[in-house]
Parts: sequence; structure tokens; C-alpha cells
Amino acid sequence: MLELDQIESGYGETKVLHGVSLTIAAGQTHAVLGRNGVGKTTTLKTVAGQIPTDQGAIRLHGKDIHTLPSYAIAKQGIAYVPETRDIFGALTVRENLQLAGRLAKPASSWTIEDTIQFFPQLAQRLNNGGHQLSGGEQQMLAIGRALMTGPDILILDEPTEGLAPIIIEAIFEKLADLKSRGMTILLVEQNLHFALRLADQVSLMSRGQIVWQGTPETLKTDHKSQARWLGV
Ligand SMILES: Nc1ncnc2c1ncn2[C@@H]1O[C@H](COP(=O)(O)OP(=O)(O)OP(=O)(O)O)[C@@H](O)[C@H]1O
Ligand SMILES: [Mg+2]
Repeated sequence: MLELDQIESGYGETKVLHGVSLTIAAGQTHAVLGRNGVGKTTTLKTVAGQIPTDQGAIRLHGKDIHTLPSYAIAKQGIAYVPETRDIFGALTVRENLQLAGRLAKPASSWTIEDTIQFFPQLAQRLNNGGHQLSGGEQQMLAIGRALMTGPDILILDEPTEGLAPIIIEAIFEKLADLKSRGMTILLVEQNLHFALRLADQVSLMSRGQIVWQGTPETLKTDHKSQARWLGV
């Protein structure tokens, strides 16, 4: 479904990604892991069109999208939930969802009703401002906003960051539910246990390159790679 082919990108003169290649099949969850500063967020931002691709191609359903602006990439079916969650604090939960719905693909089947059915916690909060939400509710709203665009692929940057264990478990259940409905997911996560439970495929990054690829089962027993690339 999504293919990154030798991607190079960065910030101005600073090159961060040096030929990143990844393939994600439909319905699969792919986790990208690595130490701080290796280029995980940069990889996601490049796919979402928030920073330009200097070299290489990004294909969605075989069609190159790397030259499109970020709103057009969203309309093509890529929903990006950044680490900052990017919800609008001054708008209500309902307004946040409505606004995201405007980015929807023409055939999007997710309505506000679907979203609050999926995240019942948001139902009581519809008229609350985004800034009044707890961290967990903000993450649910951020994912809800992504779902409102009717994505083919959901891209998540550290969705568990700063959340209590019980909330992390709730987020896990929701992502596992989406996965069981066939959603394709690209996940960056510091929580190794969380990532390995959810993922079908794992890529480890170091200094802007993919240095290891395999299944969670293989990584679990590969203590050498865990120590070398994750510092575990
Ligand atoms: N806006 C920016 N301008 C310049 N350099 C940046 C910018 N954002 C990130 N970098 C640099 O790019 C490199 C990769 O950063 P990136 O955020 O992709 O890492 P990461 O793997 O997501 O790390 P973390 O685990 O801390 O989230 C780092 O050296 C970082 O300092
Ligand atoms: Mg990051």
C-alpha cells in the first residue's frame, strides 16, 4: 500500500534521512523504532508531506505522492497524527472533528457519530474545548480526527507518550480494533512492549537509515540488535 523508496530529506542544509526504504502491505502494522534523534519523526513528516523529499519516491497504491502538498496527501488517504497531537485547544471536540472531516477523501465513511461510537469517552466531551481534555482524551481526539479523514493508512508518532499505563492500554485496544478492521498503520513508538505487541513488521533506524528489518518475534529474541540499535 505504501512504499518509501530511498528517501532522502532533512531540514534545509541538514540532511537527516539517507535513503530510507520501507514497504507496508495493506492491513499491516509497521513499527519504526530507534534511539532519540535517528530520524523517525522526520520519516513520518516526509511521508505526510510536511517536509520536502529531496531524493527518492513515496508511493501510495503505486502512485508517487512525494511532490504533493500535505493537504493533498491527506486527501489521498494518509492520516498523520503527530507527536504534538495538533488538536485545536480553542475549538470544541465536535468542531475539531468537523474540521478534520473537511479533509476527508470523497468516499470517507467515518462520521462524527462513528468516531464517538468508537471513542465513547469523547461523547461526553463534544462541547468541551480541546484544551480541557486530559492527555488520553487528546490522543483519542487526535486519532478520531485522523479517522474522520477516512484514511487508508494511519501514521502515528509516539501515541503513548506521556500517558498513564491504563490509558496506554486503552489506546492499544483501539489501535488493535482498527487493525482487526483492516486498517494499515505506520507507528513510531518508544514503548517497545507496545510496539512489538501491535506490529507485524519492525524497522530499526540509526542515523537516518534503516539498519534492521524483521518481525517482532525475531526482534524479541535478537538481544544483540536490541542492545545495539535500541539501547535495551
Ligand atoms: N525542525 C528541525 N530543524 C533542524 N533539525 C531538526 C529539526 N527537527 C529535527 N531535527 C534533527 O533531525 C534529526 C532527527 O530528528 P527526528 O525528530 O526525526 O528524530 P526522532 O528519531 O524522531 O527522535 P526522538 O526519538 O527524539 O523523537 C535530529 O538530529 C534532530 O536534531
Ligand atoms: Mg520523534
